[in-house]
Amino acid sequence: MAERKAYLDLGNGQPPIELPIYSGTLGPDVVDIRGLGKHGVFTYDPGFMSTGSCNSGITYIDGDQGVLLYRGYPIEQLAEQADFIEVCYLLQYGELPTLEQKQDFDHIIRTHAMVHDQINYFFRGFRRDAHPMAVMVGVVGALSAFYQDSANVSDPRHREISAHRLLSKVPTIAAMSYKYNMGQPFSYPQNRLGYAANFLHMMFSTPCEAYEPNPVLVKALDRILILHADHEQNASTSTVRLAGSSGANPFACIAAGIASLWGPAHGGANEAVLKMLEEIGDVSNIPQFIARAKDKSNPFRLMGFGHRVYKNFDPRAKLMRQTCHEVLNELGMHDDRLFSIALELERIALEDPYFIEKKLYPNVDFYSGIILRAMGVPVNMFTAIFAISRTVGWISQWTEMVSDAEQKIGRPRQLYLGPQRRDFRPIGER
Ligand code: SDX
Repeated sequence: MAERKAYLDLGNGQPPIELPIYSGTLGPDVVDIRGLGKHGVFTYDPGFMSTGSCNSGITYIDGDQGVLLYRGYPIEQLAEQADFIEVCYLLQYGELPTLEQKQDFDHIIRTHAMVHDQINYFFRGFRRDAHPMAVMVGVVGALSAFYQDSANVSDPRHREISAHRLLSKVPTIAAMSYKYNMGQPFSYPQNRLGYAANFLHMMFSTPCEAYEPNPVLVKALDRILILHADHEQNASTSTVRLAGSSGANPFACIAAGIASLWGPAHGGANEAVLKMLEEIGDVSNIPQFIARAKDKSNPFRLMGFGHRVYKNFDPRAKLMRQTCHEVLNELGMHDDRLFSIALELERIALEDPYFIEKKLYPNVDFYSGIILRAMGVPVNMFTAIFAISRTVGWISQWTEMVSDAEQKIGRPRQLYLGPQRRDFRPIGER
């Protein structure tokens, strides 16, 4: 694969070290540093700002151009013309499905949405006010106790079965965690319903009356799921890959991804955005929050702004803003207070030199929470819905890694800053 070479002179009188340079289909070239260790030196890159951890053919992001491709297809086209189950097939198998392939895949996912009935007992151990993400980390991880029949990660068919089980059951577990919070009975999945409609049914139906999801809200949720499905080697995906590199089972790996996604700097940001908008309370308070975000001595950050890769508009945020308008208009909430604050906050922030200089634009989390809140989803379920969507990205990336002949157990090194070697002193001499 190497086309060119880089030369690293360590300034130690030795000849420069030759490092192959590889070019991908799109995006920046990479310098292969795998041989550096034998020269007694490591690279140093906390947060992996400039490090490629793997090769992948799933998702491509161009942060400067605001481009996001799933298997080469622009996110704008997929959000407009595809549905989530189609995008799941694309991410997992690499190609858009034919009609027959889509129908077969959709049937598999619909008919495996029910969880083992013993799973119900796990919920009884949680307090009723347990955060849904805490429940999901526990219950999704526990799925590995039920599926020993697909535990051989080196068997492609076992991997596919586990992927299908996760895609179909994670929404059910998320909805169960909501019902448990509410003190309502669990709603079983309905095989007659599509993915997004089934989730809304499991969330909002009760035994007391018939429930049919609003088709506008179903389409909005389906789009939210498409927009959050995968995003290259983000923190939670890298967590899944690192966990999977040891040979851990996919259920445990996805549980690790859910744990990482929960952080407010990552998928937890959509929940944090709503809390921030509520705290702002009125457009007249926006300047003071902008000032706090710019104050280096203040840890406050404008939630929903900034991104490690996007130094232009996050293409998902633009699509999410459009969906926001559609949902609020459908629900007669077009003058929604928080949406008005969000629009004004975006306008002011994008004119502020600090945000312009640091290229801080709204990201995918900035508008998603407003849509979900308008749909009646409680704030503590926002990241759980992000996790439902990202499960297909995680499991596709996990599958790609496990089947990559190049993959090895992930084991980074370090720059050691601790004490020199010293001898133990008995407690009486300390
Ligand atoms: C997601 O990686 C992915 O792909 C993630 C994701 C996905 O789909 O998987 O896109 C989903 O996680 C989106 C991001 C959601 N998080 C938030 O909205 C939380 C708020 N944003 C920030 O915490 C921050 O922008 C990050 C974490 C998203 C990115 O942080 P980086 O890349 O490590 O950048 P940084 O922290 O080094 O910030 C660069 C500068 C700093 O100032 P200086 O030290 O250079 O003076 O920009 C400032 C930061 O202080 N800055 C902000 C800011 N974000 C960065 N200042 C105010 N408000 C912000 N939101």
